[in-house]
Amino acid sequence: MRYAKGCRLLVGAVVLAVAAGASAQNVVRLGLIGEFSGPFAQYGQQMLGGMKAYMKIHGDTVAGRKIEIVQKDTGGPAPDVAKRLAQELVTRDNVDLLVGFGLTPNALAVAPVATEAKKAMVIMNAATSIITTKSPYIVRVSMTLPQVTQPMAVWAAKNGIKKVYTVVADYGPGLDAEKAFAEAFKAAGGEIVGSVHTPLQNPDFAPFIQRVKDAKPEAVFLFLPAGAPGIAFMKGYEERGLKEAGIKLFATGDITDDTVLDTMGSPALGLITSFHYSAAHDSPENAAFKKAYAEVNGDKLRPNFMAAAGYDGMALIYEALKKTGGSTDGDMLVAAMKGMKLVSPRGPILIDPETRDVVQTVYIRKVEKTPGGLYNIEFDKFPEQKDPGK
Ligand code: PHB
Repeated sequence: MRYAKGCRLLVGAVVLAVAAGASAQNVVRLGLIGEFSGPFAQYGQQMLGGMKAYMKIHGDTVAGRKIEIVQKDTGGPAPDVAKRLAQELVTRDNVDLLVGFGLTPNALAVAPVATEAKKAMVIMNAATSIITTKSPYIVRVSMTLPQVTQPMAVWAAKNGIKKVYTVVADYGPGLDAEKAFAEAFKAAGGEIVGSVHTPLQNPDFAPFIQRVKDAKPEAVFLFLPAGAPGIAFMKGYEERGLKEAGIKLFATGDITDDTVLDTMGSPALGLITSFHYSAAHDSPENAAFKKAYAEVNGDKLRPNFMAAAGYDGMALIYEALKKTGGSTDGDMLVAAMKGMKLVSPRGPILIDPETRDVVQTVYIRKVEKTPGGLYNIEFDKFPEQKDPGK
């Protein structure tokens, strides 16, 4: 009797253990490293919002495996924190992939962790060209600064602009943008009459804007990381009367990011930018994305390019898992991601099998007032743009 009871208990325990083991095995854990607090807090929120929108449409299970997100906050540009979080995610939380990364320094710090752990690492924003060269496990679905900048330079030169002053944030993506603009603009017959680098954190733009005004260029080319810096710059540009002085402004779409456009208000009207995503992009895929995004995140925040990359990152992971039959082996996943074609809310995209960077259309857009607020309205495009930096 005693024996029988013990045996029943044992059998029960084994059944429970098997069930627990099976469900743990059945889960694919995505370690999401992003900026969820501090001045760049919207980067993480937008990426996660886009990821959730994808799961709203496609469900939380793929290739027989349930997808779970484990979220970690770097609090801003903090490479040491990002690296420690990645190590914890890999060793303690047993994540299968590392995803997210708004800011370049955070992505660069995690690259060696992905290599050592042999985990696929999907970049949903960080846009300095070299990032994908730092680990064979990195695949990028967002953009590179040279990729979105070069078309702006070509377009400006084609539209009669000859003398440009460049203003960029003083770190990887800014230096990439400055170089890409200068090279393409000079090749098209233009001249760079000055350049200045502004600090990444808490910049006071007034002295830089005055310096630009004094140099009397025909136009300014600007890159700043999306969010508050663009609002501050546009305010200074308006206050110091650059528009009235006839100095035009061209930028990458980080400045007129969909999150800040309405806050920026009238100084942004008419601004011409180059970028890969606008919430105003007219396609059934974008309409479905925006609908799902509003359903899961509410309609206070408009989805921006980081949300679109969060969505596309999930699409890439789901499609790759289908190809590997649910295996999360880093080498198999990255092999499955190479050459992947997706129809994104931004248009068609491809993961370049050589560089693991995204190939996509770059649009030229103008800020216009619509009944729904200010939007980046696309009016010209450069299809199938690769990262020219490689
Ligand atoms: C980056 O740090 O790589 C970065 C951040 C914000 C942007 C673009 C690039 O808008």
